[in-house]
Amino acid sequence: MDNRELFRMALAALPNAYAPFSGFRVGAALLTEEGKVFTGVNVENSSYGGTICAERTAAVKAVSEGYRSFSRLAVAASEGIGYPCGICRQFLYEFAPELEIILGEDEEHLQVYTLKELLPEGFRL
Ligand code: THU
Repeated sequence: MDNRELFRMALAALPNAYAPFSGFRVGAALLTEEGKVFTGVNVENSSYGGTICAERTAAVKAVSEGYRSFSRLAVAASEGIGYPCGICRQFLYEFAPELEIILGEDEEHLQVYTLKELLPEGFRL
């Protein structure tokens, strides 16, 4: 699975985003070491703090299905580049400090980061 394909899967999830409050839809596609992809979208709530981001939705889906080793994550947003928020960076760091993160406005303009670049000193107990 190449980066473009993974990004397309993040993009394909976008219509399922539930974002009536911000109008900002996010889709994520998380590739496990086993080669399985879990997608996720942001799911907002009337009690705004209850909102969950697309990246964490994908990670929680994977972990709850027994997958904990991740190699790559692609994120697509309804506008601009969907940089993962700080909470998502830390959440992903728990399972995959070596994660690669694929971002871009479209599949022709993808940027590749490591999680370490986006979160240089993640927290560990
Ligand atoms: N959002 C994500 O899904 N991922 C991020 O990393 C940043 C923010 C969502 C949460 C909320 O539904 C909307 O974007 C606006 O903050």
